[in-house]
Amino acid sequence: MNNQQFGFLVFICSAFIASVSALNACGGKVFVEDEVVIDAPTDADCVWQIETETDRILAISAVRDENLQQLLTIRDGLVEGSPILLAEEQQEIVYTTQSTAEIRLQKMPKTSASHFQLKIQKAVVCPTDLGLESNCTRLIDDVSCHCASFTKRNQTDQVAFCDDNGMLLVSIETPEEDQAISDTWGLGSDFWTSCVKNFGRWVWEATGKNLYPGYVNWYPIAEPFCNDQWDANYTCMLIGYNGLHWASYHCDGVWGAVCELHP
Ligand SMILES: *[C@@H]1O[C@H](CO)[C@@H](O)[C@H](O)[C@H]1NC(C)=O
Ligand SMILES: *[C@@H]1O[C@H](CO)[C@@H](O)[C@H](O)[C@H]1NC(C)=O
Ligand SMILES: *[C@@H]1O[C@H](CO)[C@@H](O)[C@H](O)[C@H]1NC(C)=O
Repeated sequence: MNNQQFGFLVFICSAFIASVSALNACGGKVFVEDEVVIDAPTDADCVWQIETETDRILAISAVRDENLQQLLTIRDGLVEGSPILLAEEQQEIVYTTQSTAEIRLQKMPKTSASHFQLKIQKAVVCPTDLGLESNCTRLIDDVSCHCASFTKRNQTDQVAFCDDNGMLLVSIETPEEDQAISDTWGLGSDFWTSCVKNFGRWVWEATGKNLYPGYVNWYPIAEPFCNDQWDANYTCMLIGYNGLHWASYHCDGVWGAVCELHP
């Protein structure tokens, strides 16, 4: 690599780091728009009051080092006596139950590391389920939530079901998301998505984005049913068809649903 290339790489890296808010002040009020990394000084006692949007929660990556753990206190809320959130063993992330947290870091012994980093992200609440025959999990990252509902309804009713639960019927934007849904709930299940054909064009209705050009996973190779009669009626997309693929189907067919919510 020559110097120019190296310089360019350094430029890219610093531009990337700068896109995440970084803080190195000892304590203070912090509003988390998206993600904040606190690069804390270790030679003083520091207290931060963290806040994000009122309908979101905070995901805080705690340290695993036992010595440091004792010097760090994360509280679920800003009021006096808010419960302490303990990082369970092996668990790297703690979640608040509401939109605020207090983080206290005690001055570290001289022998400890001279830097201490804490990552704080805005996250959505992820329920354990949405009632009977459903299952929710953080499927693709630490801040979003996906729920599968195995109760069969037509596509319109599944849009409403997700909406009633403050979520959206799924839009599959990446192969990783597609694979994760298959791996987690795929066996023998079919789910409606938010993809519908409007005036000959496939659109993820929940996000308003066109399907093409983008990741597709039709079975067997392209849009499956090119038969004119079927084509006119098969204007909704379901996933899980024949294992791991997508298929168009008439929208009044009844299948499960995957709902999603992102920060
Ligand atoms: C959801 O599914 C996962 C994986 O199959 C399972 O471990 C978990 O217990 C389920 N949760 C509920 C609430 O059924
Ligand atoms: C497709 O729609 C047309 C017109 O609404 C209808 O006559 C036909 O029966 C439908 N075909 C199927 C396979 O549902
Ligand atoms: C979906 O099902 C509901 C009943 O649950 C029905 O009223 C509605 O007409 C159906 N819509 C479509 C597009 O099939």
